[in-house]
Amino acid sequence: MKTVGITAIGISTTSHKLALEELAKLRGVDPNKYTRGLECHEMSVCGPAENAATLATDAARRALEMWGGDPGEIGLLVVGTETAADMSRPLTGWVADALELEGRFRSYEVKHACFGGTAAVRQAVEWIASGAANGKVALVIAADVALYAPGDPGEPTQGAGAVAMIVSEDPAVAEIEIASYPYSMPVFDFWRPVGEAFPRVEGKFSLECYKKAARECFTSWTDQEGAGAIGDLSAVCFHAPFPKMVKKAFFDVAQEVGMTPEQTSEYYEERLSEHMNWTRKIGNTYTASVWMGLAHALSGRGDGERIGVFSYGSGAGAELMFARVAANNPLDQAWADEFEARLAAREPLAAASYNTAREEGWGK
Ligand code: HMG
Repeated sequence: MKTVGITAIGISTTSHKLALEELAKLRGVDPNKYTRGLECHEMSVCGPAENAATLATDAARRALEMWGGDPGEIGLLVVGTETAADMSRPLTGWVADALELEGRFRSYEVKHACFGGTAAVRQAVEWIASGAANGKVALVIAADVALYAPGDPGEPTQGAGAVAMIVSEDPAVAEIEIASYPYSMPVFDFWRPVGEAFPRVEGKFSLECYKKAARECFTSWTDQEGAGAIGDLSAVCFHAPFPKMVKKAFFDVAQEVGMTPEQTSEYYEERLSEHMNWTRKIGNTYTASVWMGLAHALSGRGDGERIGVFSYGSGAGAELMFARVAANNPLDQAWADEFEARLAAREPLAAASYNTAREEGWGK
């Protein structure tokens, strides 16, 4: 079996940000509800010229730079997104235009709420592992602008960003193990009917769906490898609509696999919480969220360490996967610091300017 996984990563986020205290002011809500209740602190907000296509393109450009290969080696260009620009033309069309990519490769878009990026990564990994890629690599992008109707309970969880990955044989960053543990169920927890600008959400129900999917994925894994396997993971990354969601779901999973509350708290603090540090500043990036978490967890991490990756998309589809860090992983501390510097450089919006941005449709 070939070793397949991530060879290069590029991350993009917006030029503007909003502190959750500003949003709380605007909506007349106690800021603690957002910062303690949901554990959200800042959200990335698109500038007037930014959208899912520009974020996807920026992330792809960065991944291509890290990779340094010949674009002629790309056999698959795929974007997972739920911020489609068109019902027919894939978002990859905009990316290919901007990066002048044309040639003998497949180019398409994948949709399944926040799970779309994961579906794209799995397709790329399995395409290469099967031999169908015939030595070519995949450029996989997860990109979204998460917006709710102004005043919706989901508004404090908004965000925007993209993660692009070159997926190849003999990966330089991390192997994505071929075995994975999916779970699907047909539910309406979060959805966006055709023609509507913002999602409809059954908020409390969505939390239950997420937790159920997490329990199902983790127990189908522990049924195979035993409950003790969780102790061998160096880090675990979850799709993070907001950090409190991940804490609740992980505590459910831990109880299911027999961890004590003390073990669970310690494990959560040491192996999960810090990998949501970028989410705490960016917000929910839908398809990109879990891959942002993985990029954080991979930064500065060494050879052979195993990381759990739990992806969830409303509707609902979920999958637990594992990444194994490569020997000379190029995602060093300097790489993470450069992204942190870009986050710090975002222009802060005051409540009134955010209101204007919403009225003018920034990010659309
Ligand atoms: P809500 O119902 O307005 O909030 O919105 P709440 O009343 O449940 O309060 C939230 C928390 O704040 C609670 O904490 C409160 O106690 C606390 P908990 O008890 O749950 O631990 N709180 C306070 N804490 C401190 N000081 C205060 C205070 N007041 C309250 N003064 C909801 C919450 C999640 C429903 C909303 O944000 C929402 O609808 N979000 C969008 C849906 C979502 O993110 N669902 C997550 C699972 S589904 C998913 O992940 C998929 C998704 O990414 C989409 C996709 O797949 O494409 C969303």
